[in-house]
Amino acid sequence: MKIMYSAVQPSGELTIGNYIGAVRNWVRLQNEYDCYYAIADMHAITVRQDPAELRRRTLELAALYIACGLDPAKCALYVQSNVSAHAELCWVLNTLTYVGEASRMTQFKDKSQKHADNINMGLMDYPVLMAADILLYQADFVPVGADQKQHVELARDLAERFNGRYGETFRVPEPLIVKGEARICSLQDPSKKMSKSDENPNASVYLSDDRDTILRKFKRAVTDSDDRIVAAEDKPGITNLLNIYCAFKGCTMSEAEAYFAGMGYGEFKLAVGETVADVLAPIQAEKQRLLSEKDVLAGYLLAGAERAFKASRKTLSKVYRKVGFYRG
Ligand code: TRP
Repeated sequence: MKIMYSAVQPSGELTIGNYIGAVRNWVRLQNEYDCYYAIADMHAITVRQDPAELRRRTLELAALYIACGLDPAKCALYVQSNVSAHAELCWVLNTLTYVGEASRMTQFKDKSQKHADNINMGLMDYPVLMAADILLYQADFVPVGADQKQHVELARDLAERFNGRYGETFRVPEPLIVKGEARICSLQDPSKKMSKSDENPNASVYLSDDRDTILRKFKRAVTDSDDRIVAAEDKPGITNLLNIYCAFKGCTMSEAEAYFAGMGYGEFKLAVGETVADVLAPIQAEKQRLLSEKDVLAGYLLAGAERAFKASRKTLSKVYRKVGFYRG
């Protein structure tokens, strides 16, 4: 089976955009690939985190992923900091990474602007740690959003550089930009992507929102000036709501348009909200159940970390041997 690697940072609440674009894909991919999925807490601390909050989010995220259908028996779901090989390989890869190329990474430049008071070494090293994540598991594919593509490219460059210098060691991974999924946009400004860090609380629907909150946010969603419910270039608000409906209902755009033809905007927005709330309700219940059984959840994460440990050690030993580290 081909190997798949991905990770998510335990920072910020996930939105329905993350669910459609990332979480649901991870679940789908677990049947076709040997999957390693990490909760990237080491990446998270490159910006300031509250320790208790970080720990809480890490567990919540694990519970959420399992509640969304990730099967801990099928894939290795684990917490990045529980497997020390990530930091260890990162160190070796640091010696192959040029300061120039790291400082040119788009996300580093963006985050340096955003966190101007805390431009730490970890922020610059972020993509190298990410390369270590991926290369440790000899991943064939890395499902990521478009914003992470440059980081996967660095992982490829570093794999090739290492292989060139020390001999064949790493598999060169391919980014898997999952297409065909609609882009879920802000409910308040459909020209931009729905974001977990939007300042407007009505812009994003979070996976943790209760039914009333979801319905209220959809009720307030911006629409367009005429009253037709069709997907069109000049109707970004309605198109976004239709995309959300299709993604949650599992239907096609023409089916959705036919279903809503002639309906008023108020009724339409309520129907979209209800569809989303209906899908999220059982996920939220399952997440709460998992969080109330902390031992079971801890057991899943331990099993995941053990699998990750085994796979990563194999690669790390090889790397240490190749670079000339003394092993007694
Ligand atoms: N940087 C990724 C993000 O914020 C998370 C991540 C960390 C990751 N390590 C990874 C993604 C390895 C893919 C592969 O989305």
